[in-house]
Amino acid sequence: MPGFELIGKEEKAAVNEIFDNGGVLFRHGFEDRRNGIYKVNDFEKAFVQKFKTGFSRAVSSGTAALLVALKALGVKKGDEVITQSFTFVATVEAIIEAGAVPIIAEVNKTLNMDPEDLKKKITVKTKVIIPVHMMGVSCQMKEIMNIAKKHDLLVLEDTAQALGGKYKDKYLGTMGDAGIFSFDFGKGLTTGEGGMVISKNKEIYLRAKEYSDHGHQENPNFPRGDDTRRMSGFNFSMNELQGSVGLAQLKKFDYIMKKQKENKRKIKVGISSVPGIEFRELPDIEGDCGDTLIFFVRDKKTALAAAKKLAEKGIGTKNIPSAFSWHFAGTWDYMLSSLKNYRGKDLMKQWPVSADIVSRAIALPIMVKMDVKQINKIIGAVKEIARDLKF
Ligand SMILES: Cc1ncc(COP(=O)(O)O)c(C=O)c1O
Repeated sequence: MPGFELIGKEEKAAVNEIFDNGGVLFRHGFEDRRNGIYKVNDFEKAFVQKFKTGFSRAVSSGTAALLVALKALGVKKGDEVITQSFTFVATVEAIIEAGAVPIIAEVNKTLNMDPEDLKKKITVKTKVIIPVHMMGVSCQMKEIMNIAKKHDLLVLEDTAQALGGKYKDKYLGTMGDAGIFSFDFGKGLTTGEGGMVISKNKEIYLRAKEYSDHGHQENPNFPRGDDTRRMSGFNFSMNELQGSVGLAQLKKFDYIMKKQKENKRKIKVGISSVPGIEFRELPDIEGDCGDTLIFFVRDKKTALAAAKKLAEKGIGTKNIPSAFSWHFAGTWDYMLSSLKNYRGKDLMKQWPVSADIVSRAIALPIMVKMDVKQINKIIGAVKEIARDLKF
């Protein structure tokens, strides 16, 4: 997820342009000072064009984007929202913040939502499904969309970790009723902090826009100070500095994707003959963002020992095993135990399939600027550790 690797003079020039033209950092208003510069607006338009969707609303973070999207989809207190056991805490935080009840489904060897378990989790209270395209790889969208259609449910794609990824030639985030993205510092495209809500449905977009801006409707008949509103909202606005960096990063995005895919392919080929390694299943190999290479080993103990040995050689893992507790629902007692459906339950036993799969996984981060030496170092290290630990 290496947008930060390429931050350079283009981002600096984009930011300077704002300061050279009145220095308005707010996305709205101050027309007399800003010399016609609206970076967040431009970023939204460029994003829609690039990722082939209808409408987009830039916000302050991916977490904010999730909450805004849930509000835009009309989620209310007591509604059930189904997501998956392997995700970043933000997905479930947003569901709870929206007043809804998180219902968590197992993942399978794609490390994304298991459509079979999703079916079992649907009740009369279910309103939205949030499949999460974890670590650059799509969920099984055909199956998930069919289930949603059959049960008349809305789909919000959490694409925070998979900007630019595809499923059967469609950009991730564009298949559901809404999609969200994160531009935090670790993501493929970064604005420092930031996020985006997209939808092809104008009404969903308008609700997202309004909710993220105190309910402002931007009524053309009134100045902002007298603007109209139909609902209350909050302030999750993106600012102009972020918008300008986003525009500069967008121009580099094709290169980012190309390089990380190339680097991933080389490492995958290099370790594919290692006995005992089983690669993560990919619902669409070509659509993979290529920013992470994940394989499974025999058991949790072996995965932890392998990660330790990799770290000793200066090779980190991403999210799993490192940061496991931020990404696996089985460890979220502090957040889930106050909810009726999880109260008094041993969470580590709630998703046994996921617990097994996730704890046997090793995720290698793939960077844009990896050279041959680094690539060979990783291949050599995995081979050596596999031999030592008898993968
Ligand atoms: C799957 C997922 N959803 C949501 C988020 C939240 O994004 P942000 O960090 O921009 O708030 C993240 C961040 O890593 C994420 O990985």
